[in-house]
Amino acid sequence: LQTLPPLQLAHKYFELFPEQTDPLWQNPCDDKRHRDIWSRDKTCDHLPKFLVIGPQKTGTTALYLFLLMHPSIISNLPSPKTFEEVQFFNGNNYHKGIDWYMDFFPTPSNITTNLLFEKSANYFHSEEAPKRAASLIPKAKIITILIDPSDRAYSWYQHQRSHEDPAALKFNFYEVITSGHWAPSEIRTLQKRCLTPGWYAVHIERWLTHYPASQVISNLLIQQTHRPSESPKTSKASSLEVTGYFPLELLAIRKFDPQKGFWCQLLEGGKTKCLGKSKGRKYPPMDQESRAFLSSYYRDHNVELSKLLHRLGQPLPSWLRQELQKVR
Ligand code: A3P
Repeated sequence: LQTLPPLQLAHKYFELFPEQTDPLWQNPCDDKRHRDIWSRDKTCDHLPKFLVIGPQKTGTTALYLFLLMHPSIISNLPSPKTFEEVQFFNGNNYHKGIDWYMDFFPTPSNITTNLLFEKSANYFHSEEAPKRAASLIPKAKIITILIDPSDRAYSWYQHQRSHEDPAALKFNFYEVITSGHWAPSEIRTLQKRCLTPGWYAVHIERWLTHYPASQVISNLLIQQTHRPSESPKTSKASSLEVTGYFPLELLAIRKFDPQKGFWCQLLEGGKTKCLGKSKGRKYPPMDQESRAFLSSYYRDHNVELSKLLHRLGQPLPSWLRQELQKVR
């Protein structure tokens, strides 16, 4: 029997099994053989019990902060690069390994009652995230927020503009969403990133191939109310309806701030603390042509979403009921 030094042996192994160069991490504590060789200094308590997966621009930061007001809910520590988001399951951070991930989570003071969680809004539409997450944290609850995908797309476009994305500055919203395959690649790339996360049913189905339906919660609704300056048609996401898994007392510590146009944290003495300027940005309402285009663009996706929510026994958000009425 011949062998090689560890590093060379590893190279040899991956030469023979190249498909295994992409790792799929599992919880070392779930398998006795792994637990036995897992260092004594390590624990498996630093893994989240639920994930807020997005999509981006649906109010995920507001949800994140409102959840944190609950004494038993604990988030990851901030990342120097991506701030409150860890972005582990969707991209290259995954290759940094589970120690890297677990180091983001504090030791819970009470392992059974404390709920560790993280929110990374790019997980929602990621091809890899569902499989990877289910392998490491198969018992986790998966939480999505579903606002009207047209509003989401518009908010995302405004977000890109304020980050000075050259294509978003150069082309208006209507040009971005309606551009055809002959358009320059910069606008096509922007269009794809703007519109694809709104294919809600496609992405949720991907999560459902890896998680049981009972763990995928898409009825943490952001209710549609409108800012005082806007008509109901251009309504913005502004309130959270927390059902099921989370204690309802969360709702008592928020107050609607008419100046901000959104729900904010209620401080002692009745004052409010709202999210910063980059959340609830000021920009003109979406033009009617873009809204009509997007309503038709998302029609089939929304029909599929309604079937999916029926199947899961979850209520339809009010914006979805309104969109479905346009189909009839
Ligand atoms: P706009 O800034 O386009 O209005 P995310 O945190 O996922 O990036 O979402 C940002 C969006 O959250 C904001 O988009 C805003 O519409 C919405 N939102 C929902 N509740 C909010 C709140 N309480 N404060 C600020 N923004 C909120």
